[in-house]
Order: sequence, then structure tokens, then C-alpha cells
Amino acid sequence: MILQSSPVASVDEDKAAIAAAVERVVRSGWYVLGPEVEAFERAFADYIGTAHAVGVGNGTDAVSLALEAVGVGPGHRVALPAHTAVATAAAVMSIGAEPVWVDIDPATCVITAETLAAALDAAPGPVKAAVAVHLYGGVADPVAIGALCRARGLKFVEDCAQAHGARWNGRRVGSFGDAAAFSFYPTKNLGALGDGGIVATSDARAAERVRLLRQYGWRERYVSDEVGRNSRLDPIQAAILGVFLPRLDARNAQRRAIAAIYDAALAGIPGLALPCTAPEAEPVFHQYVIQTAARDGLAAFLRDNGIGTAIHYPVPVHRQPAYARFPAALPHTEAAARRILSLPIYPQLPPEAAKRVAERVRAYLCRTV
Ligand SMILES: Cc1ncc(COP(=O)(O)O)c(C=O)c1O
Repeated sequence: MILQSSPVASVDEDKAAIAAAVERVVRSGWYVLGPEVEAFERAFADYIGTAHAVGVGNGTDAVSLALEAVGVGPGHRVALPAHTAVATAAAVMSIGAEPVWVDIDPATCVITAETLAAALDAAPGPVKAAVAVHLYGGVADPVAIGALCRARGLKFVEDCAQAHGARWNGRRVGSFGDAAAFSFYPTKNLGALGDGGIVATSDARAAERVRLLRQYGWRERYVSDEVGRNSRLDPIQAAILGVFLPRLDARNAQRRAIAAIYDAALAGIPGLALPCTAPEAEPVFHQYVIQTAARDGLAAFLRDNGIGTAIHYPVPVHRQPAYARFPAALPHTEAAARRILSLPIYPQLPPEAAKRVAERVRAYLCRTV
């Protein structure tokens, strides 16, 4: 069986380093925040190229805390794609804000300055912030979107949960927005062995506000300046992430190499669209997502051939029952949901396995389409 993704593939290779990191935390006696979390926050901020990074409990909290840190709160409108993990939208709702859905570009599957402008023009009132999701490890043009946000007086938050290490014109995503959110869910390009997340920002006040809000609004122990919540990056996870971070670029390069195999082997099949990014983008292929009208038949055929696939995501967020109060017409989002299929990709996927997947995709599509 060729799996679609492999959350724990790196654990075997890094076993000794992980064990040493866990042992260090256990011996330190420091089990909430403390030096391990601070060391990882520093290393991650340096990697992304921001002045600050603040570790939190998971990626969903990272999105909501990033939004709160830049001034979003109850009753505000936030523009975001409906073609994303539902977590992005749940984060907006969790702080009492409301979604304004933005359609995607059909080729890159991410929002653009143009689709954002159209959504802002159609919104029922002022919009406080926009969230660009760098979906699948691709990049939503953070320069054009950032410029539009500044021109229209919006805060700009990047959701980088699927794009650790991706770049735009050589600069890492997460360093463009007023604040950026990352998830360390185990399947992510940089994944912990449990939940984790981080907010990156170069705005000292936003960073300070996340520090406050992640721990009961405490500036000082037992004194809550605000209500806040409990959402802290666990020191054992921080120590493990500190093992994985120096390997991230190499692992992303392995993902790009798998993607290049697919690109070459799947080129020219009628009716099949391959992942596509702008020339300024250096993607990190959290997913390798193809598009075809024959998606369901292809997925079944691959399953019968021992190849796992997935659909990210089958129901756009605005079509889900919990979001029925916020209807929208999003033609590209809805078309994508019918056509997308995520092929197996993870750093340790053997090239021969990727070639076999591509050969099976070609065999099916050239026979039936
Ligand atoms: C785009 C996106 N945003 C946010 C999240 C939320 O991350 P977490 O699962 O760590 O809460 C995820 C991961 O599921 C994601 O893919």
C-alpha cells in the first residue's frame, strides 16, 4: 500500500535525537513554557525571518490569537477563503468574528488580490482583516494581498499551517503579514508528535499580546489584564520541534523532488490539471493536488491498486452546516471541491513509488477520459 501521507516517517530516522530531547525536558522539571519553548520560539522566528514567534497550543489557536493580537474581535468581519481546512474558519468564529468568503484562483487554489478585492467590494459592511491561506504548501501572493490590505485599512494575517518554509521572491511566508499562524499538527511539513502551533510576527505589540492571551491574560502571574485563555506550546513538543526544524529545508526539498517526478510523469494528459504556482513562489508541497473531472473514478481505481489518496477538502467551508448563516457564491471554490485529488507525498516516499502512482494515474485517465 502506498499511503497518502506519513505523519511519523521521520520518527525512526530521528529516534535518538527525539529521545534525548524528551529526556532533557523530563530531567529539567520544567513542564509548562520555560526555556525549551523560548529556545524554539527564537529558532523559529529566526528561520521565518520575523522578530518574534510565540508558541501556542495548536494551529487553530494560532490563527485566532494572531487575529486577536492585531485587533480583531467580536462583531468584526474577516475575509478568508472557504477552500481551506475548516480550522481557519473555526478560528475566526471562535473570537466572535464573522467570515467574508473569498473565492480562489482556479489554477493555484489560493486567494489573490483580485478575488480579495471582489469579496471586499461585495461585503455587507467594513472588513477588519484578511487571512491568506498558503494552501497545500503553495503561496497566496503576500505582496499584492498585503498591499491591498494596507490600501483598504485591513490587517493582514497569513495562515501558514501548510507552508512552513515556503518562499515568495526568496522571503519566507509568515514574514509578510501583520502576524502569521503555523500549526505543528503531526502531518504538517514541520510536525510535532502531538498538537502545537506558533504565531510569528515582527510587531512587538502583537507578540506581547499573544503572550498575554495564551495564558489567562497574565502579564504577571495571577493578575489577568484580560480574560485570555490557556493555549501554550508544550515544552516536550518544543524540544522535539527543535530536532526537526534544522531538517525542514531538506525535507521540503525531498517533497519538491517527488513533485517534480509527478510533474514530469503526468504532463500532457488531456483534462488533467497539475499543481500550479506563480513564478515568484517556492512551494513546499504539503500536498500534491491534481484536478480532473474524473476524480471519483480515479480515486477508486487508485485505491484498488493499493494507492491511498485524499480530498482536501471535499466540502467548502461555506457549504458546511455550521456556516449556513454565511452563504456565498464561490464558483471556483465549488468547482475545485469536485475536481481535486491529493496524491501521496511525503519526504520519505520512494521515487519508484511516485513513478508507480503517476503511471497508474496516466493509465486510468488515458483509458477513460
Ligand atoms: C490551513 C490550516 N489552518 C489551520 C489549521 C489548524 O491547525 P491545528 O490542527 O494545529 O489546529 C490547519 C491544520 O489542520 C490547516 O491546514
